[in-house]
Amino acid sequence: MECRVDGQVAIVTGASSGIGYGCAEALAEAGAAVAINYNSQPDPAAALAKKITEAGGRAIAIGADVSKPEDVEKLFAETLAAFGAIDILIANSGMQKDAPLTEMTIEDWRKVLDVNLTGQFLCAQAAVRQFLRQTDRKVSRARGKIICMSSVHEVIPWAGHVNYAASKGGIMLMMKTMAQEVSEHGIRINSIAPGAIRTAINVKETEGDKAKELLKLIPYGRIGEATDIGRAAVWLASDQSDYVVGTTLFVDGGMCLYPEFRGNG
Ligand code: BGC
Repeated sequence: MECRVDGQVAIVTGASSGIGYGCAEALAEAGAAVAINYNSQPDPAAALAKKITEAGGRAIAIGADVSKPEDVEKLFAETLAAFGAIDILIANSGMQKDAPLTEMTIEDWRKVLDVNLTGQFLCAQAAVRQFLRQTDRKVSRARGKIICMSSVHEVIPWAGHVNYAASKGGIMLMMKTMAQEVSEHGIRINSIAPGAIRTAINVKETEGDKAKELLKLIPYGRIGEATDIGRAAVWLASDQSDYVVGTTLFVDGGMCLYPEFRGNG
């Protein structure tokens, strides 16, 4: 049983680095044409598109700030112009702007909510509109698939990151509500909740002595890689998961298992 998405078209937001990059690469390897969205980093996005194309796949890089409705419209229009349809959305763009509660600025609160939560809302809305327009695609059992990139922090409170945790908690009920609303049209919406994945967002926490501290929170004993999430995304986008609807897949090495209770009491 191989997970394949041949002949399908995927948009991956925030795909110039980290988890988005891993998802775009994995989907291309599994046969999808991929629109690699970036906001501030055109070069790595273009380099990934080139790498995929040279390996015989199909990919383009598209710049768009997902928190802006007009940019999201452009992202979808350019993907359609290039590949003719959209079957998979990985709503991944996200950022952290950390500060203690008493010091967090309204700008940083708004920015994180705008990108992480409103950005996913806008992309999901555009994707569902497009899926509903596509009446005779035969590339997958579902009419369209959306994967929201959440985090273990959709359930684990996170001191010093109130904007980020609020955005991920919001994604949980946004995803479930959207799934409840549109599954009857054959659209599958789910989330992936990564744990500590080694990316630019957490370099400080995943190297040196800090990494040792972090590993105490990961029962499986290793920090995750973007490919761990890429593989989960391919499965969730493929027909192998066709009956999975409105759920969060935790890919976290056991981070949600209250690891600090090991040997305690
Ligand atoms: C955050 C990372 C963090 C991980 C586990 C993710 O959602 O973006 O910075 O290492 O959660 O706490």
